[in-house]
Amino acid sequence: MKVLLTGGAGYIGSHTAVVLLEAGHDVVVLDNLANSSPESLVRVAELTGREAPLVVGDIADRKLVERTLRDHGIDAVIHFAGLKAVGESVAKPLDYYTNNTGGTLELLHAMDAAQVRTIVFSSSATVYGAPEQVPLIEKMELDATNPYGRTKEQIEDILTDVAAADDRWRVALLRYFNPVGAHPSGRIGEDPTGIPNNLMPFIAQVAVGRREKLVVFGDDYPTPDGTCIRDYIHVLDLAAGHLAALEFLADHQGRHSWNLGTGHGSSVYEVLHAFERAVGRPIPYEVGPRRPGDAPVSYADPSAALADLSWSASRGLDEMCADHWRWQQQNPHGYTG
Ligand code: NAD
Ligand code: WQD
Repeated sequence: MKVLLTGGAGYIGSHTAVVLLEAGHDVVVLDNLANSSPESLVRVAELTGREAPLVVGDIADRKLVERTLRDHGIDAVIHFAGLKAVGESVAKPLDYYTNNTGGTLELLHAMDAAQVRTIVFSSSATVYGAPEQVPLIEKMELDATNPYGRTKEQIEDILTDVAAADDRWRVALLRYFNPVGAHPSGRIGEDPTGIPNNLMPFIAQVAVGRREKLVVFGDDYPTPDGTCIRDYIHVLDLAAGHLAALEFLADHQGRHSWNLGTGHGSSVYEVLHAFERAVGRPIPYEVGPRRPGDAPVSYADPSAALADLSWSASRGLDEMCADHWRWQQQNPHGYTG
């Protein structure tokens, strides 16, 4: 298959590019480089021995997207492009609704015009909002609690309506839990701009000496060690989930949603200690106040993806930390440093 990856120069997109190229698919990337560097794709080519051509542009540029789909003979789109910082989305909701929801509408118009109607979408466990029950299952009600999450819910709704209206569409909504880790080569990985919002990139920057200490956001939650529990998933397991979803859509119409998680929760302290094992020394931390909006416990029931896609995550927390650390150590300042 020839697959267009929107946002493919980013963290999850670049890892998925490796997995698709290694599986024999052709990959084209459309990315406006708002949160990524073209260097990631240079390294994807170096790792796979195959090129993933980059079109620098915006998903909201309907003409450019349509031309790209036609010129490259694209069969399917994996739609990673989007802004993803929860706090920023609260401060700048219009930017998030315009870029994520508005941009996706333009992308879908372009796909329809070019008659490319297969799409795998990067959704998020954030669509479940504050979970009343764990593990989370796909049929639970969606109730995102911030603008970022609401853009994911809106895009899920739009894709659901599009698939219901026209049975030529094939839609996979992939709800990622907490993606971490990196390619084991240490050549590609997550390269956050500014202060990392997420736990593992923050710990990694403390470990490499870029930040003084981790602040644990609360240790008085109703969990065994008092810190929040999340379902961390290795980015290469996640990438494999995209390949499985694409293959599923090749012989299934309609709209499908799957949780991509391990089904296993880890606390902040468990992640911190696993990272310390990877690094081989203690990592400084202090306990701070709770972060507003954090749910005490969130983890997936990934059994639907196993049943439908024969997909499950195989890498554990120690491997996630070891791979994340290798990337951080080899690239202390990311791609451009
Ligand atoms: P990322 O920022 O590394 O990648 C997103 C890419 O999209 C970037 O390369 C950015 O330049 C590009 N982009 C943004 N807006 C664009 C636009 N309008 N046109 C073209 N390109 C655009 O993020 P990631 O972690 O790789 O996430 C990929 C997707 O997965 C996002 O949609 C994100 O919301 C979703 N997701 C991420 C996580 C996570 O924790 N990383 C969890 C759940 C869902
Ligand atoms: C994990 C745990 C924090 C940083 C977010 C988005 C979600 C999805 C994945 C995109 C929490 C604690 C964190 C720190 C800490 N992204 N923490 N100190 O909040 O589960 O999910 O990323 O879709 O939408 O909300 O992940 O990595 O931010 O936090 O103690 O400096 O680590 O409180 O318990 P989260 P996270």
